[in-house]
Amino acid sequence: MLSKLSMQTRKERELLEQIDHERLPVHVAVIMDGNGRWAQKRGLPRVAGHRAGITSVRKIIEASAQIGIQYLTLYAFSKENWQRPAGEVSYLMGLIEEFVLKELDTLSKNNIRFKVLGHMEELSANVRTRLEEAIHKCQANTGMWFNVALNYGSRVEITDACRTIVRKIQQGTLDYAEIDENLISDHLYTASQPDPDLLIRTSGELRISNFLLWQLAYSEIVITPVLWPDFRKQHLLKAIIDYQTRERRFGKVINP
Ligand code: FPP
Repeated sequence: MLSKLSMQTRKERELLEQIDHERLPVHVAVIMDGNGRWAQKRGLPRVAGHRAGITSVRKIIEASAQIGIQYLTLYAFSKENWQRPAGEVSYLMGLIEEFVLKELDTLSKNNIRFKVLGHMEELSANVRTRLEEAIHKCQANTGMWFNVALNYGSRVEITDACRTIVRKIQQGTLDYAEIDENLISDHLYTASQPDPDLLIRTSGELRISNFLLWQLAYSEIVITPVLWPDFRKQHLLKAIIDYQTRERRFGKVINP
């Protein structure tokens, strides 16, 4: 066990040496996928994959903060996920509640800031209370932002922004001429946060799945075949190394 641990650390150290710390992605977003398949491969119920996925969540938050990532956004539950079997939905909600309860002290001690992206008011009172406690407890922190996208849908987020903007115009607090891309960004759930530089999707699927559609306009995308419950610091490091090989042009020609 110990030798496995030290081998893993050596691997991580080798990967860390390949990273240019001056060019880290500021914001990393992750579509955590493959929990069900991870469980299926082991002859376990799907929810066992979600439980195993929690270990990855913990490890990736810790690794991201260590590496110096400033914003980490994890896609935990989409608006569309309510259509899963009721037992799976309630298990997932229970896991999220349990995670916040167990990890809150650690998150707070590690100076991590916490934000929920999504409609919290539609969650059960228990889950909502836990999340509100966490937001409150972490509000004075100054370290990495951990965003959890929960009951989240990007089209709903953009629709919410449109509604708020129109209401402000009707109330006379905003002029139509002031609408520009920055103003729209400022009305999304991620207001005041930079757009993700890097999007990671696990389990090999090639989809965005209604996640941060506006914010991902110029993000670099890394798809890994690794299933989320197997995703560890070394996979995050590999994704960052891959990201650092990309030439980010934002639509421009670099050397005309
Ligand atoms: C996708 O796997 C995963 C999810 C829908 C849920 C992910 C959520 C967690 C790991 C809990 C998150 C908790 C916190 C606190 C961030 P899938 O079930 O769609 O897998 P499959 O495609 O293999 O079926």
